[in-house]
Amino acid sequence: MTQNYTLTILPGDGIGHEAMTEVRKVIAWLEDSRGLSFTLHEDDIGGAAYDKYGQPLADETLEKCKASDAVIMGSVGGPQWDDVDYNLRPEAGLLRLRKEMGLYANLRPALVFDALIDASTLKPEIVRGLDILIVRELTGGVYFGEPRGIEDLGNGQRRGINTQVYETYEIERVGRVAFELARKRGNKVHSCEKANVMEAGKLWREDMTALHASEYSDVQLEHMYADNCAMQLLRNPSQFDVIVTDNLFGDILSDEASMLTGSLGMLPSASLGDKGKPGLYEPVHGSAPDIAGQGKANPLATILSFAMALRYSLNLNDEADLIEQGVQDVLVSGQRTPDIMADNCTPLSTSQMGDALITILNHNMKKVA
Ligand code: IPM
Ligand code: MG
Repeated sequence: MTQNYTLTILPGDGIGHEAMTEVRKVIAWLEDSRGLSFTLHEDDIGGAAYDKYGQPLADETLEKCKASDAVIMGSVGGPQWDDVDYNLRPEAGLLRLRKEMGLYANLRPALVFDALIDASTLKPEIVRGLDILIVRELTGGVYFGEPRGIEDLGNGQRRGINTQVYETYEIERVGRVAFELARKRGNKVHSCEKANVMEAGKLWREDMTALHASEYSDVQLEHMYADNCAMQLLRNPSQFDVIVTDNLFGDILSDEASMLTGSLGMLPSASLGDKGKPGLYEPVHGSAPDIAGQGKANPLATILSFAMALRYSLNLNDEADLIEQGVQDVLVSGQRTPDIMADNCTPLSTSQMGDALITILNHNMKKVA
C-alpha cells in the first residue's frame, strides 16, 4: 500500500494564497508522476484567522497541525490588522504555532543561485556559490521571556520590559541541530551571541563549548559576537557554513543573510522540533500586501519550503532533489517573476511560474526515464 502523507496547508495572508496555489500544483504533480499520495487540510492563520475565528490561530487549527506530517505556511500580516491588540495580531498566531508545536530550530538557508548572481547588491565574486545555513533558536529568548509588558510608572513615564532568558537544555538542543547539520555540509559552526554584555550570551557560549567538547569535537566551532557576525556576513560571507544563534539575533541575521542572495522571493525555511514531530515550512518573505492578488508574487520560496518539508519531515529526499533541481532549471531558462526579472528574461506571473516549473519537472522526468 502506498503511504499517505497528511499536510496542513495554511496560506495565511497576502501573497500566501497565490503562492500556495502553485504549491498545490507541485503536490498534484508528485501524485501523478511519483505515485505519492497526500491528504491536504487547509485552514487559516494570521489576519485571515482573526477575521474568521476572532484569533490568529484557532485551537482546532493547532490540533490539525499537530496531527499532520508537516505544515506548509504562506505568510501572515497586513496593514488592515495594524490596530489589533498585540496578542491577537497575525504575527501572534505564528508565534503561538511555533511555540505550541515545539519548533525550537529554525533553518534558514541563504543560497545564491548562479542564475541570479546579479540580483545581489554585493559583488559577484563575494557571493558566488554562497551556501549558508542559519539555525535560529525559535521558541525562547526575548520573544517569549517573562516578565514582559508595558508598565505605567505613574509619573507620566512608562516602562517597556522584555526578558532575554535561556536555559541550558534550550541551548543544547538547538546546538545539536546545528552540529548535526554541519556534519552533512561544510562541518563548521559559528555560534553567535553577545557574551560580552549579556549573561544569557555568556551561558550560550559556555554551553555550546561544552556540547562541542562532549559530542561534536569533529566539527569546527567558532564563537562570534552577533554584531561582528552582521559585519562579517557582508565582508566575507563565504567564511560561514552553519550559523547558530538565538531567537532575536537569528531574526536579524537571517534577514541580512537573505539579502546577500538578492532574492528574498527565493528563500525557504524549516522549523523543526524533536525528531518524529511535524515541522513547519514557510518562505522567509512576508505577506507583501502591496502586490497581493495581482499575480506578481514569486511562488518559488513557498515551493522550496515544501521541498524542505519533503526532505526533513517526509524523508522524501529524491522528490526534494527533483523540485530543487527544477527550480534551478527554471531560473537558468530565464523565466522570471518581477522580483527577479533581469535583461533578456521572460516575465512570468505567479501562476505561469508554477506552470513553468511543472513543465520542467515533466521534462526532467523524461530525461531520467
Ligand atoms: C520572521 C518574522 C517573524 C519573527 C514575525 C512575523 C513574528 O520576522 O519569521 O522572521 O520575528 O520571528
Ligand atoms: Mg524576521
